Amino acid sequence: MKKVYIETLGCQMNKSDAERMFGMLEYMDYERTDEPKKADLLIINTCSIRQLSEDKAYSQIGVWGKWKKTRPNIKIGFSGCVAQQVKENLFKRAPYVDLVIGTQRLYELPELIKRVENGERVCSCEESPYAEKDYKINRVKSINAWVPIMEGCNNFCSYCIVPYTRGRERSRDFKNIMKEVKKALSEGFKEITLLGQNVDSYKGKGENGEEINLSGLLRAINSLDEYGKFRVRFVTSYPTDITDELIDTVNDCDKVCEYFHIPMQSGDDYVLKKMNRRYDVATYKKICDHLRSKIKDVTITSDFIAGFPAETEEQFENTLKAMKALELDYSNTAAYSPREKTVAAKWVDKFIPEDEKIERLARLNETNRECCVLSNKKYIGRTLEVLVEKFENHNGKNVISGRTRNNKMVHIPCERDLTGEFVDVKITGSMTWYLKGELV
Ligand code: SAH
Ligand code: SF4
Ligand code: F3S
Repeated sequence: MKKVYIETLGCQMNKSDAERMFGMLEYMDYERTDEPKKADLLIINTCSIRQLSEDKAYSQIGVWGKWKKTRPNIKIGFSGCVAQQVKENLFKRAPYVDLVIGTQRLYELPELIKRVENGERVCSCEESPYAEKDYKINRVKSINAWVPIMEGCNNFCSYCIVPYTRGRERSRDFKNIMKEVKKALSEGFKEITLLGQNVDSYKGKGENGEEINLSGLLRAINSLDEYGKFRVRFVTSYPTDITDELIDTVNDCDKVCEYFHIPMQSGDDYVLKKMNRRYDVATYKKICDHLRSKIKDVTITSDFIAGFPAETEEQFENTLKAMKALELDYSNTAAYSPREKTVAAKWVDKFIPEDEKIERLARLNETNRECCVLSNKKYIGRTLEVLVEKFENHNGKNVISGRTRNNKMVHIPCERDLTGEFVDVKITGSMTWYLKGELV
């Protein structure tokens, strides 16, 4: 058996792609290793959402390129979102790379690897999706299985590279998704997270050619009672795509969790317009209010960018105010990073200086921390259902940890490994990023 090592940078979509690559490579007699030095095939699965993630990818292949001087037989692959952008140009910069494979060509991997093994240098980055094949998925051992349902994006937010790296929106076949979900459940996974850049845009076709949207898909998965108890989640939602039908589905389906990730990006109307987001602050607020009035205990998390080109101090403060006023439960934050090809990257004369961006990011993070503290305090004294994900020893004490239906992390002292079980927990305390509880 040959050995393959894959280093994954970036989002869950990339991690899911890596699980698929491992699965395909198994058919080609590769076994997975966690030790890059022992691998015959090394793949860096890249992310280009920010400059920093792109830089990481290049520095990693630089290291592997040096290994090739003493071990000329190792093969190096470059996949993911940076690969989709650089295409064969990578060979000029890094001539030791053997394979460049774009995001839409994932399922071509076995054929490309064959050519690489024959000594060819190969690049496949065409912007035409290579048909999905029924390979095994070599999943990371966990409680939660990530299942992509759609890929790509048509929104073209002015700062974002994703539409250029993942291409136009396309939904996976309904039958294939259901098959994959059933397989994961039969393997013992207890949580299914449906994945997509904009999950609400899912458009599939049922047995009789009928249209199936995200709600239809969630209802179909929810009815899989023969697999025992499990949970279903979905990320990411574009704010204005959340429909009443989806809200009703979350309420009607016992397995679908009360959790929405709806990136807001900025709390200022002018900046939102410049970002090419299709809502203003009042609309976003209405969506949050509506969700909270309809779904008990719903958690709403978000993403924000600090220091978007031309963002004034006042506009930035509007973001801090919005975060607090909306009582967001948690937010991912980042400093704006100009990305090639995107509209905002051309506004060079309006860029915010690096130190100013860093300072704004620190304030954004502080407000996020305050929001999390307030959000967590609400649960003290309540009894919540937790799906246990881990059993660990923290400073000499045995602790289980897992998440509530609405995605709050809870730590519970416990002498037994209850990983994979649903337990009722009384919340006794709240920390910044997690809750503390006791088994009831
Ligand atoms: N499809 C999702 C998000 C995908 S990208 C959505 O529309 O919400 C994940 C997050 O990365 C974005 O929500 C955004 O906050 C951040 N991001 C994207 N491009 C960025 C850039 N150029 N600089 C900084 N952060 C960025
Ligand atoms: Fe990027 Fe906007 Fe598409 Fe999200 S919706 S992936 S932020 S372009
Ligand atoms: Fe990164 Fe591509 Fe995901 S740019 S965040 S790996 S879609």
